[in-house]
Amino acid sequence: MTKEFKRTLVTSALPYANGPIHIGHLAGVYVPADIYARYLRLKGEEVIFIGGSDEHGIPITVKARNEGVTPQDIVDKYHHLIKDSFEQFGISFDIYSRTTSEIHKQTASEFFLKLYEKGEFIEMEAEQYYDEEAGQFLADRYIIGTCPICGYEHAYGDQCEECGTSLTPTDLINPKSMLSGSTPVMRKTKHWYLPLNKHEEWLRKWILEEHKEWRPNVYGQCKSWLDLGLQPRAVSRDLDWGIPVPLKGAEGKVLYVWFDAPIGYISNTKELCLQNPEKYGNWEKWWKDRDTRLIHFIGKDNIVFHCIIFPVMLKAEGTFILPDNVPANEFLNLEGEKISTSRNWAVWLHEYLEDFPGKQDVLRYVLTAIAPETKDNDFTWKDFQTRNNNELVGVLGNFINRVLILTQKHFDNKVPPRGSLTDYDKKTLEELANLRKAVEKNLDNFRFREAQQEAMNFAHLGNKYLAETEPWKTIKTDTNRTATILNTALQLVANLSIVFEPFLPFSAEKIRRFLRIDNLSWNRLSDADILPVGYELGKSKLLFEKIEDDVIENQIQRLLVIKKANEAKEYKAKPVKETIPFEVFEKLDIRVGTVLECEKLPKSDKLLRFVLDDGRGKRTIVAGLAKWYPHPEELVGKQVCFIANLEPRKLRGIVSEGMILSAENPDGSSVLIEPMKNVFPGSRVV
Ligand code: 2FM
Ligand code: ZN
Repeated sequence: MTKEFKRTLVTSALPYANGPIHIGHLAGVYVPADIYARYLRLKGEEVIFIGGSDEHGIPITVKARNEGVTPQDIVDKYHHLIKDSFEQFGISFDIYSRTTSEIHKQTASEFFLKLYEKGEFIEMEAEQYYDEEAGQFLADRYIIGTCPICGYEHAYGDQCEECGTSLTPTDLINPKSMLSGSTPVMRKTKHWYLPLNKHEEWLRKWILEEHKEWRPNVYGQCKSWLDLGLQPRAVSRDLDWGIPVPLKGAEGKVLYVWFDAPIGYISNTKELCLQNPEKYGNWEKWWKDRDTRLIHFIGKDNIVFHCIIFPVMLKAEGTFILPDNVPANEFLNLEGEKISTSRNWAVWLHEYLEDFPGKQDVLRYVLTAIAPETKDNDFTWKDFQTRNNNELVGVLGNFINRVLILTQKHFDNKVPPRGSLTDYDKKTLEELANLRKAVEKNLDNFRFREAQQEAMNFAHLGNKYLAETEPWKTIKTDTNRTATILNTALQLVANLSIVFEPFLPFSAEKIRRFLRIDNLSWNRLSDADILPVGYELGKSKLLFEKIEDDVIENQIQRLLVIKKANEAKEYKAKPVKETIPFEVFEKLDIRVGTVLECEKLPKSDKLLRFVLDDGRGKRTIVAGLAKWYPHPEELVGKQVCFIANLEPRKLRGIVSEGMILSAENPDGSSVLIEPMKNVFPGSRVV
């Protein structure tokens, strides 16, 4: 039986304050967490939603180094950028604080000391990589090398971003210092370790037996970690940016960022409760009362930290609750490629807010519709446009707009009276209860994608109702019947303002303004008597607008420019083939020919048939260039290079007498090779 809880503490991964927020962060963590927190609030449950910036660790110092500024400059800049963009996007944190706050420093230090005093750490001298040129130990991301699992050459010392595997620096093949590029040496250094291995037994029972309901990706990752066997893990680092290890003789050592960051959830709760004790009570009730349910929203790269390491810290401390669920999402890609901050391959939230003012809900809607809940998923601008135009404008906006316009036009913008209901009216209203159940079931089980689809079914129901009852026709003959239809439809609109509040809070608010009603509790959802007869409605406008092609084209073009720049930056010519004697080269007869005819071979996407003037007559060559030359007739009259003495080959029934030369781009596209000036056809290329 599932336990009943009194209150819920929702946390969302604290983003590193080393860059802006992008759609991957939003779809993975913040949009689902926000939907969930809003849903619980709307139900009248006791809930707080915690966010904040993760301001320690190597991601910050690396960025500061690259930009030639201090780590403090970096976190100040990005913390505010991130905080503002979340706020504008409607992420309804009760608090968004930062891990450089005084209260966090104190909380994390006390936490460390408590574990230290309880003997929960192992103090150990171990060999670690040291950069002799930079005079510094190389923790985590200060070291890169080849991933032993997938062979990716730029894996970090703590994780391979290609395959997601968690690593330790000594796992890397061919390690190199990020600071100087030199090969590091091993040197002894003292650190404090959390003996995760000591906790294996209860972890196995707690996760593998008691939390079988966790998402398969989360459960599976935990199981494989546990099956591999856990190792002691250092919770300190030799760095000068972070919270100092609060012990004598620990100068120059700071808490490992993954030790301090999750404690940030606790410090931020404390800060919130201190700000408003009347509203939120004492922080301890949120973290120490067994009646509180703790839910961590994270991305898949954070699973081990939230399901194993942080729970071990909480358990070792002894007075804290453990998470009840950790709904981690997979990753979102952008136009078929992995989102990457360093490659600028992302849709940045602060830029979206500038480019699409007032359209927060469109992005929220699309990111939930494509949420990578069970597998990685792809964001494309075309899909964004289609979902806006077909679903938000075409289904949701269209229904609401039609109902409000008809009410304005025929009933003086007042809720018309409801006469006797037909069976169909009754069935429609009864359906609301089923839809509500479906939305709730999905939300309660962290299936936000399906929940939103079910919410959309309220609008589908409304459109179907209008199509069947045709109030624009009945108005000509039967005012009473039309009044009943519009009364029913208006109650559906009021229901939409409730059901969409967690998903599309800006639009839900607009609907409430159109209806001139206050925020309604979730408990009113499926109520068919929300709007009283005769109630005067507010002014309405279009809820959503179509997004035109040129707007989308602009975004796509912007990405293309970035893609080209990345390709140019990352382009590395392929290794040169084995050396050949001159005589072998001499055997090749390369010539220039003039294109006489060129056409796509019927039923082939790839092949072009060229007829060349090769100086001795006509020569037919079939080449796989159709994709790159969609208008082959334009090639007539141009000169190309070809190998003249290659054995003829039959392709699609045509004898191809040679091979046309082209240069290959990194993206696989090909460009024909043309002489710089026209020459006699048949001229040799030497
Ligand atoms: O992966 C990240 O972006 C981390 N900054 C998440 C930290 S979550 C928590 F522990 F604070
Ligand atoms: Zn890898």
